[in-house]
Parts: sequence; structure tokens; C-alpha cells
Amino acid sequence: MSTNPINTTDSGATIDPAAVLMQPLEIRHMRLKNRIMFPPMTTGYEARDGSITEQSINFYRRVAEGGTAYIVLGDVTPVHTISPTPKLVTDEQIPSFRALADALHEFDCKLGLQVFHPEYDTVAVANLFAKGDMAGARAKLHHDMAHYINEVSVDRLAEILESIRALARRATQAGADAIEVHGDRLVGSLCSPLINERDDAYGGSFENRTRFARQVVRAIREGSPDICIDYKLPIITEDPQIGRGGLFIDEAATLARLLVEDGVDTFHVGQANHTGNLNDTIPAMGTRPDSFMEPYSRRIKETVDVPVSTVGAIPDATEAARLIAEGACDYVGLGRPILCDPDYANKVAADQADLIRPCIMCNRGCTDAIASRRFISCVLNAQGGHEYRRVIEPAAEPKRVAVIGGGPAGLEAARVAALRGHRVTLYERAGELGGQLGIASVPPRKATMRRATRWFERAVDEAGVDVRLGVDVTPAMLLDDHPDAVVIAVGGRNATPPIPGADAPYVLDAWKVLAGEQRPHGRTVIIGGGLVGAETAELIAQDDYGCAVTIVEMMGRIAGEESSTILPIMMEDFAAHHVVTMVNTKVERIGETSVEAVETLNPPTPTGRPGAPGAPGATPAADAPEPQTRPVSIPCDCVIMAVGTAPLAFDTTALEEAGIAVTRVGDCNGRAADINRAVEEGWLAAAAI
Ligand SMILES: Cc1cc2nc3c(=O)[nH]c(=O)nc-3n(C[C@H](O)[C@H](O)[C@H](O)COP(=O)(O)O)c2cc1C
Ligand code: SF4
Repeated sequence: MSTNPINTTDSGATIDPAAVLMQPLEIRHMRLKNRIMFPPMTTGYEARDGSITEQSINFYRRVAEGGTAYIVLGDVTPVHTISPTPKLVTDEQIPSFRALADALHEFDCKLGLQVFHPEYDTVAVANLFAKGDMAGARAKLHHDMAHYINEVSVDRLAEILESIRALARRATQAGADAIEVHGDRLVGSLCSPLINERDDAYGGSFENRTRFARQVVRAIREGSPDICIDYKLPIITEDPQIGRGGLFIDEAATLARLLVEDGVDTFHVGQANHTGNLNDTIPAMGTRPDSFMEPYSRRIKETVDVPVSTVGAIPDATEAARLIAEGACDYVGLGRPILCDPDYANKVAADQADLIRPCIMCNRGCTDAIASRRFISCVLNAQGGHEYRRVIEPAAEPKRVAVIGGGPAGLEAARVAALRGHRVTLYERAGELGGQLGIASVPPRKATMRRATRWFERAVDEAGVDVRLGVDVTPAMLLDDHPDAVVIAVGGRNATPPIPGADAPYVLDAWKVLAGEQRPHGRTVIIGGGLVGAETAELIAQDDYGCAVTIVEMMGRIAGEESSTILPIMMEDFAAHHVVTMVNTKVERIGETSVEAVETLNPPTPTGRPGAPGAPGATPAADAPEPQTRPVSIPCDCVIMAVGTAPLAFDTTALEEAGIAVTRVGDCNGRAADINRAVEEGWLAAAAI
């Protein structure tokens, strides 16, 4: 039961997102202007010492400017760590956090700092790194991640509590409005009945396992008597293998009641972590149901009388409003959705929820970036990470712009050019927009990709682009229209390599298979194990097709471009459907009943990248041994070609001779473009007109 009741709607009734999400909310003495929170997200934008940088401030300021009421800065450590996260360890760092708080307060947006301690011995690991003993540090890190919470001394836990108390004091001095306890990681692992094996005052009974969690909350209250305390409550959900660093729901509810007594003012109910796959807490498209934390946050909300937020895969504003209206939570955490569209809240307020650019849950720009220690961005948001530097400026002089091709690159170019005030006509040969997004949404789990196409359709319409579908425009037709600038975004085609037999009738085209224009049968060999080949394999190995699939890949990896969060799921699916993968294998000839290939048994280890044999672009070491190969013959009933994308041509000579500025973007621009590069090239081309 919330202290902030909101008019509830019967399930199934129409919900007005603005009416629900724009209601203010009181949490202790923190007043949120609406119900939209940007949950904790490590960004990689901070300085090495963990201080807040200008890029970090700009990133969060942009989210605040977009109307978000409450931003939680993810993973702020109270101690020095090697983790690339914010750190608030010394008084000297306070001004940089103060600058962030001030920037957010300009927009009446509240700032929370998520206090987090990693589950490793930060002091010992840092010392090993400082001594240059990288191997020792890595070994310790590896060991500690599995054992630390069972080995950490009571004295060290007391020191950590002291550092958290100090962080709370500094947070107040910096002007933060809230501290969110990262109830996952060290705290959650100690709470967990599945991880904690201690037999002292911090292990065994529920009381002992949750002792540290409660001490953390009290330490914060001591360090900062008035600050709002938010607690990320990690729940071990239906499948304990998904995440074990938290509590099952009954114990979580009991803990929540106790934590309110200790001083917690609000709960952020999330999926427990710690199986090593980020997909547990940040599920990629098609891997968890929408709003998968709903039953758990509802239970916590029924248990405590402080406001509760939920988070995770909330697909749109109507669903976000439904969660609140139907009593599952009081406010919503929208992580990737706001990363994708920082103007989320403002669009809801303006009754333009259908214009919110939807996150497609690809995990490429955000989660993969963090996993590989780059700063986060979003594949659909070309301005992400470049806040206040990449701005859609009105054009000095409105021009007539023609965009040829309605895939993501052309759509983004058309949208941005039109928003800048140009008169834009977009020509698309097909009868619908989206280009390769169409086939990209066909494989298992990928239907969410359609959100991007639907949004682009609405966005170009809203921007005033004149869209002409089913028009195979020629340079002569364009010249008749006298455009000032032309953006060529005609895309690519599935490439056909010069392999003997590639033109035989039983050799199909992966793009056409995905589009449903060709149907494979029986024993099917897919030549090319990039993303298209791998996704085609997944599709045709399903029961509807029932093909017995073998993928043959020249390099050392299958689906190397796939998100690290999805790859393990894809491999499980391959195993379940008996998909055979052959790497380091080059096809020599395609016959009617078999594919003849050569497998390299000792693929070169690329220089400087040990352990990644045969990785794309690998340069063989100078002392690489002579390749050892063996011929392989793979029986088949049909073959699918999936070796990559070849750019489609569009002759621009006449346009250039007529003095028209021409830009190429996306797949037709020399090399294959993933959605990230397609959107970025489209954006940049439009910004330059
Ligand atoms: C790039 C990235 C970094 C994240 N970092 C944190 C973090 O520092 N602390 C945390 O508790 N959760 C973190 N999360 C999890 C998010 O807070 C959120 O629970 C998750 O993204 C699911 O919500 P969404 O579907 O709205 O994105 C992170 C998520 C992403 C995508
Ligand atoms: S990169 Fe993908 S998952 Fe991440 S915010 Fe953007 S669309 Fe969503």
C-alpha cells in the first residue's frame, strides 16, 4: 500500500499514460515531479578516479532535460576499485558530484547515488595491479568473485560499512537527494541463501544473512540523517539459475519490512544478479516477458507502506502506466528506454508517447559496451554519448533533399534532415519502409526489431518527410525534381562468392529465406556463420522448417557480431536443435548432394590476441606454423548462402555533374553497416546538409 495512492484503473480499461505517469510522488521529503526514474546504469563516462566528468554531466543533464524525475547514478563505490565506475572516496571529489546534482536540479530532477561494493577484495586486487602483477590480480579477481563473500573478514565488513557511512556524508554535501543501496552484488550475495555459506554472524539464518544489508542502511542513515534511502531489492525469480545474488520473494518481503524500520524510504525491485550473464538483469529481446518483475514488485508494494518502483523490459508508456494504475508499483525505472530516447518523459507529458523512440532490446550499444569497457550508447540514438555536441540544429538555408532508400540509414537521414527544416522526399523501391529491419525481425526472439520500423514510420511522418513507396527512382527522375542534396541509402544485397556451384538452383539466398521467399528443406548447409547465417540457422532448425542444419564458417567464430548477452542463448538453441557448426572451414565447391570444404586444424593465433584463434581480421603471428588442413565433405539437400553483404550500386555521375551534393550512407557506402553505423551515418549526413 503506497502512501501516494493514484487513481487505479480496472485491468483492461484504456490507460492514459500522461494522466498516470505525470502524477507527482512524495518519497520522504523528496518530491518527484512524475513517476519516471532513470535506474542505475554504469555508463563508463566517469574519470579514472571515479569523479564525474563533463561527458557524464552532459549525459545525465540531457536525461533530466527530457523530463525524467529521478536519476540514479549506477555503481558508485565508496572505496577505490579497478572497476570503471563512479567513486566517491575523498572530499576532493565532492565538487564534481555537486556539479552533477546542480545540473539535474535545474530541471527539477532528483539525483540518487547507488552505493555499491564489488564482491572482491578491492584492496588486495588494487595492490597487485599497482605492483604490475596483472596475472596475480586477475587470478585473485577470478577467485574472489566466487568466494569473497564467504571469505571476507568481519573486520573488513566493518571497514566497508565505515566507507559507506562516509560516502553518505559526502553525498549530502554534494547535494544528492537520495542514496540507493545496491542490494545486489556484495550485499545481495551475503543475503543469498544460494551463495552465502558462512557460519558466523553473517551466514546461516535469515537474520545473519541479512545483517550486513541492514547495517548498510543504518550506516547511511548515520552518515546522512535526512537523505532519502532507496534500496534496490534483488529477487531470485522463477529460475534460480538466472540470478542468485538476492533473496526469494518471501524472504525479500520480510527483509523489506525490516529495512523500512532501519530507515529505507523506497524500494527498487529488480532481478537478482550473479550468474555471469548480463542477460539475467538486462534481458535482450525475446528472452524474458515484458515487465517481468511485475509480480515481485506487486508483492513488495503490498508488504510495505513506502513507494516501490519496478524495472526491466517495460515496453512502452502505456504498459508503464498500467503497472502503476494496477498497483504493481508507484513509479517505473526505464533504463534502456530512456537511453534510447532521453525525451521519454516529455513526450509522455505532451501526449506524444507514440513518438518515443523504442528500445529494441538488442543490448548492442549499451550492455555490450559496458561488458567490453566502452562507454554506453544506443544503436538507435546517434546523439547518445555526444550530448550537447550532436544537436539537431535548424538549417541555415532550407533545401530540397532527396533520400533514396527507406532502410534505417535513409530513414534516419530523412528524419533528421526534415527536423532541421529541409524539404525531404524519401523514395523506397519496396512497398514498405524498414529495409533490412524487415528480415532482421524474422528469426526466433527478434520480433522486437519491428518496433524500430514502426517508430521510423511514425517519426518520418511526424517530421514531414514526403515518403514515396514503390518508386524505383532513377538519376533522371531525380534531376527532374531539382534537389539540392541527395542522400543515397539504397542498401546492399546478399553477396554471392565466386565458389563453383554457387549459382546452382539448390543454392538459396539467406535474405530470401528470411523473407519467406525461398524455403529450404532437409539437410541444409549454410555457408557463412555471421549473424545472418546464424540467425537463418536458428530459424530453419525450428520445427516449422525441420531442417538438419550445418553452418560452415571460414573464420574461427559463429555469430561474432551478436550481443554477448544473446550468444549463449543462441548456442543453447543450436544445441537443442542439433545445429552443427564448423569453423575455420573454407568451402571449395558446392555439389548437388554435398558441399566440399577444407578445414584448417591449426588456425593461426592472431598476434597480440592470444586465445582468439581465427578471429576475424586476425594477423597470423610471424612464427605461425604451416597450416594443417583436411578435406571435408558435408552431405546436403540444399545450401543457403550467407557470406555477407555487397553494396548496391546507384550511379550518381549525372547528379554530381549537375552540381548536386551527394552522400552515401549505410550498406551502399562501401562496407556493410550494422544498424548502429547505418543510423549514425544517416544522422551525420543529415546534420551536414
Ligand atoms: C549498460 C547498463 C549498465 C547497468 N548498470 C547498472 C548498475 O550500475 N547498477 C544496477 O543496479 N543496475 C545496472 N543496470 C541494470 C538497469 O538498472 C536495469 O535494471 C536493466 O537495464 C533493466 O531495465 P531496462 O529494461 O529498463 O533497461 C545496467 C543496465 C545497463 C543496460
Ligand atoms: S542499444 Fe539496443 S538495447 Fe541498448 S538502449 Fe539502444 S536499442 Fe535498447
